Amino acid sequence: MRVLLTGGAGYIGSHTLLKLLQDGIDVLALDNFSNSSPEVLRRVQKLTNSSFATHVGDYRAPDVLDEVFEKFRPDAVIHFAGLKAVGESNEKPLTYYAQNVSGSINLLDCMQRHGCQNIVFSSSATVYGEAQYLPYDEDHPLNPTNPYGRTKYFIEEIIRDWIASRPHASAVLLRYFNPVGADESGNIGEDPRAIPNNLLPYISQVAVGRLKELSIFGNNYETRDGTGERDYIHIDDLAAAHLAAVKYAHENHGCEAINVGTGTGITVLEMVKAFEEASGREIPFKIAERRQGDVARSFAEVSKAQRLLDWTAKRDLTDICRTAWNWQSKNPSGFEH
Ligand code: NAD
Ligand code: UFG
Repeated sequence: MRVLLTGGAGYIGSHTLLKLLQDGIDVLALDNFSNSSPEVLRRVQKLTNSSFATHVGDYRAPDVLDEVFEKFRPDAVIHFAGLKAVGESNEKPLTYYAQNVSGSINLLDCMQRHGCQNIVFSSSATVYGEAQYLPYDEDHPLNPTNPYGRTKYFIEEIIRDWIASRPHASAVLLRYFNPVGADESGNIGEDPRAIPNNLLPYISQVAVGRLKELSIFGNNYETRDGTGERDYIHIDDLAAAHLAAVKYAHENHGCEAINVGTGTGITVLEMVKAFEEASGREIPFKIAERRQGDVARSFAEVSKAQRLLDWTAKRDLTDICRTAWNWQSKNPSGFEH
């Protein structure tokens, strides 16, 4: 099977690239490095001791895509590329709709013109919005609360309509909960360009001395200890879910949305404590105001992934903190050093 990865040099793309290569799948990584570094692909090459196809370019440009499809003739696409900052999406909604929604339409159009029938799409638990019940199952009403989340929702709907019009096509919409951690090697990991928005990279950068202290956004939520509770999924498990999903798409028809999480919530304070144990470093923190748009609790119902993909998360909180720290301490300045 030949698989095209849009955004293949990004955090989730690079770990999936590694997983697919280790499984012997023929891959092409397409990226414009707008939020990643070419060094990522060099490191994946070293780790696998294999060469794979790459293409530097913008996935939204029809000529770039046509060239890639003609050259590589993919059987399936895993579509990671896009913008992902919730706060920025409130300030620049049109940029988010153009990059994420219009870009995805161009990609589907190109797949159609080249007879490529299978897509795995990076969706997000953010499509659910405020929980009406927990855990979120795939039938939970969809009510995203920001433009970023709505781009994911709209793309899901567009893919559904596209699949409905093509009896032999197949799509898996993977709704990620909170992807964290790094490859065991410590050679690739999450490397945000600016000050991290997300909890784990922020904690990692405090531990390594790049940031002074963590602000915990609220300690008066209705959770065990008052801090926000999330379903953190190890990146290696998430990469394995993509491998299973692309095989599923190859062998089945239709469109399925599938949660990718562990089914268990971890609070911010629990994460801080686990990271301190893994790193042997103290994580200074202060309690700050709640962050606008945050929910108290989010965790996944995971039986659909087990049923359809024969996939479950294997890694726990200790693995998450150990691998995140291994990556950050080996690469204090990320890929640029
Ligand atoms: P990332 O920013 O690390 O990776 C995205 C990659 O796409 C980057 O390498 C970037 O350079 C590339 N890219 C962006 N626009 C491009 C374009 N126009 N043409 C070519 N390449 C382009 O992000 P990530 O964390 O790996 O996320 C991957 C996908 O998963 C995104 O669609 C994101 O919305 C989704 N997702 C991420 C999370 C998370 O917490 N990381 C959670 C849910 C969903
Ligand atoms: N948090 C802090 N301090 C920080 C950062 C985060 O206390 O500096 C808290 C948040 O308030 C929340 C928890 O840590 O309770 C997790 O926050 P993240 O920003 O790491 O993750 P979110 O759950 O807010 O959002 C993430 C992605 C979204 C995605 C969503 C669901 O950023 O893109 O998971 O998949 F949509």
